[in-house]
Amino acid sequence: MKQFAPAKINLYLHILGRRPDGFHELETLMAPISLGDTLEIELIKSGLEFTCSDSALADAKENLATKAAHAFLHEFHLGSGVRIHLEKQVPVGAGLGGGSSDAAAVLLALRELTGISCSNGRLAQLAAQLGSDVPFFIHRTPALCRGRGEIIEPVTLKEKLQGLLVHPGFGVSTPWAYKTYAQNPRPGEPGRAFADFTLRNDLEPPAFSKYPWLPTVKTWFQQQPEVLDALMSGSGSSVFALTNADAATEGLRTRFLAEFGETLFARAILIG
Ligand code: C5P
Repeated sequence: MKQFAPAKINLYLHILGRRPDGFHELETLMAPISLGDTLEIELIKSGLEFTCSDSALADAKENLATKAAHAFLHEFHLGSGVRIHLEKQVPVGAGLGGGSSDAAAVLLALRELTGISCSNGRLAQLAAQLGSDVPFFIHRTPALCRGRGEIIEPVTLKEKLQGLLVHPGFGVSTPWAYKTYAQNPRPGEPGRAFADFTLRNDLEPPAFSKYPWLPTVKTWFQQQPEVLDALMSGSGSSVFALTNADAATEGLRTRFLAEFGETLFARAILIG
């Protein structure tokens, strides 16, 4: 079975405080985007087989997709095995939830392939054991996420949003970003107010202080005529610019690549 695994962006991410379990209490508005990975998932007699288009991610034991398959088989006491092939499109360590979405896609596919009746709520509980962002990808709609990210309230965005998503070619470690925030907690700068939200990401200050490329790109985006505003997604390192029309994004992409380097990752995205 083929499964699309959409990435996400955070339209805002507020950190409310540190929790006794070491995680941070969040309120974040996340939206799936048109960029995503694709997975081929099938049931086999036994064992977990995993291949990936990106050789850096080929270690089956480390990959969240195989961990999800293992968790599903264990939860429902299934004796069969799973074969997964992952075609990676979403940059890694980018704050786009790529690995989390792959894991959720495996859970959704296995529910269908095995015919096990299990509500989205129960699947999301299983997903939460794999990572804070995984439950969001079970629902796959724009959502207000609370707790450590696993408490999901689907929302409908009033505005149709689109833009350009860019990635510098290096990642930001999520545990490092939260730890650095905790040493010096200060909110991200609020950006433009849209109908449903005001752009803001509290993980920008730690990421921006270590990686000057990020604020440089954000500021450059904000100076472009077709850009409404720009923000880093999640713990970084991707940055997105919201544009006033679909047609405007391609011109922005061309100028971005000319300014910052032709080999960089830059994709037009639809949001929600
Ligand atoms: O849940 P996930 O594996 O994605 O989290 C990665 C790391 O990010 C955690 O180990 C923790 O250090 C940090 N984190 C946090 N608060 C959250 C989510 C993640 O401190 N709400």
